[in-house]
Amino acid sequence: NPVAHSLSPVIHARFAAACGDDLRYDKLEAPVGGFAATADAFFAGGGRGLNVTLPFKTDAWRWTREHDEAAAEACAVNTIVKDGGRMRGCNTDGMGLVADLTANLGWPLRDARVLLLGAGGAAAGVIGPLRRAGARALTVANRTEAKARLLAERFGVAALGLDEVGAGWDLIVNGTSAGLGGATPPLAPAAVAGSRCYDMGYALDGATPFCRWAARAGARAVSDGLGMLVEQAAAAFALWRGVAPSTAGVLAALREAA
Ligand code: ATR
Repeated sequence: NPVAHSLSPVIHARFAAACGDDLRYDKLEAPVGGFAATADAFFAGGGRGLNVTLPFKTDAWRWTREHDEAAAEACAVNTIVKDGGRMRGCNTDGMGLVADLTANLGWPLRDARVLLLGAGGAAAGVIGPLRRAGARALTVANRTEAKARLLAERFGVAALGLDEVGAGWDLIVNGTSAGLGGATPPLAPAAVAGSRCYDMGYALDGATPFCRWAARAGARAVSDGLGMLVEQAAAAFALWRGVAPSTAGVLAALREAA
């Protein structure tokens, strides 16, 4: 909530068409504070699976009794799979990020020194998958340093205040919500110079505030998170339908629409 902007119905319609699959995927806006009632009604009405977006990922984690590893460690669910009478809460955000970084962009994660900006739900969802993909010296930096410390302690990684971040990262991932207000996290330009920079936020033309700022500050390469959006959707589709859809054509078509 809000959900009007969501590209997910377009993405899933393309996956379904490519797989010859008969799927209907719509937007459903739950009222704030009303996730459980909305989910109950959806499944009682014959719904087979849900994607969950902000601000309901924690509510969805509470609503589901069984969790995959990513959902359990992030305490957040973005995909619900109905398995007989049981509801399984999964989180495909982190695997979407890792797939976009490694398979689409060709940015290696094994032994990469990775800095993650932000300490909210979006950041929490990707720490485990980044680490399992081989990220080294994984460090969380946040405007409110105490929140970075709490999150870092939960996952056994390092923490910094944004104003303490120095240079030398192979990859910097922006997991803050600063871009929603057109802002960028207050980071010294020297911190991103020479690093690959990835924004988990997206713009169809790729030019998010963070990407524009990082490119100007001398980043080695920049990417927004549209590929992550498509990859997390593909992972959800695979959970529901048992088929992994091809993503390249869908990502290219979304870019062309910009
Ligand atoms: P989400 O679930 O999208 O992660 P969240 O839990 O509200 O949302 O977390 C938002 C994150 O973006 C936080 O890390 C926040 O920093 P604070 O903990 O200091 O609030 C960060 N954030 C939001 N706006 C920001 C800005 N203008 N500059 C830097 N960080 C920002």
